Amino acid sequence: MATIRKVGVVGCGLMGGGIAQTFAQSGYETIVSEINQELLDKGLKRIYGAWDTMAQKGKITQGQVDEYRARLHGTLNREEYASCDLVIEAVVEKMEEKIKLFTALDRILGPDALILSNTSSLNITQMGAVTRRPDKVAGMHFFNPAPVMKLVEVVQTISTSQETIETVKEFARSLGKSPVVAKDQAGFIVNFLLIPYLVAAIRMLENGQATRDDIDTGMKLGCGYPMGPFTLLDYVGLDTTLWAAEAIYDEFKDPFYAPPPLLRRMVQSGMLGKKSGKGFYTYE
Ligand code: CAA
Repeated sequence: MATIRKVGVVGCGLMGGGIAQTFAQSGYETIVSEINQELLDKGLKRIYGAWDTMAQKGKITQGQVDEYRARLHGTLNREEYASCDLVIEAVVEKMEEKIKLFTALDRILGPDALILSNTSSLNITQMGAVTRRPDKVAGMHFFNPAPVMKLVEVVQTISTSQETIETVKEFARSLGKSPVVAKDQAGFIVNFLLIPYLVAAIRMLENGQATRDDIDTGMKLGCGYPMGPFTLLDYVGLDTTLWAAEAIYDEFKDPFYAPPPLLRRMVQSGMLGKKSGKGFYTYE
């Protein structure tokens, strides 16, 4: 099994930032990149803020905060990934972007390095096919908030080697996560079950069957879920949910998965949930 020491994360948004935070906290030298300085500063600020909060709550010491910060290096230069044993991407969920990125990473990284995708539902086989190392390409799908949620889906394409899967599983365990393995089919395990639930909640609202608040309260108190579906939709991001629903619908063409009109309209209007200040709820 390959030894992982130095790791890279492409993208420092909600997911990329949370993943980079998790890696640095778990003892790995971590490089994280963004497409411009503003986004990089914003992403790093969010991570530093999370560590400061953990220190204020007494969960970690100031010494640990300093150690974590020293292990995390932000850059705008992707060539710096050349020394990484593993790089995971968490960039926008658009196949053209992923293809460009996988092609570039394949050129930059050493021949033994793993290239992983945090995609929620895009086709990872297609990403691996543009590299010279499809056996070393897999999915490593984290859940939001990545530093807290214990699950990681390890996604095996038809070309991923068993050795790569074992390495990614072991790496996930070293982060304190529990890995589960899924085939590269849209939705993997969790979104295949979660997305139909979320879109059904939106349809209920569209149909006027119940109010937003009553649907949320229903699932929270009736099923013991930590968040009702609309709180969760806003938390995950309506754009991310739309992309996931579209991907699963495209793969299986089952209307059960089709994104409801309201979801598409909200994304088109810039209502993306918590991250944009407005979704099903409004945020300060
Ligand atoms: N870094 C470190 N710690 C963090 C953190 C972060 N970024 N975010 C939250 N935490 C910590 C808090 O500090 C807190 O720690 P303590 O209990 O030790 O004080 C703990 O997590 C719980 O947070 P809060 O007290 O703020 O709030 P909470 O108890 O309501 O829990 C939650 C928040 C963990 C998000 C919980 O509401 C929850 O589990 N919600 C459901 C989340 C979920 O379903 N995620 C999966 C979405 S699907 C997805 O991501 C996949 C996809 O592809 C779409």
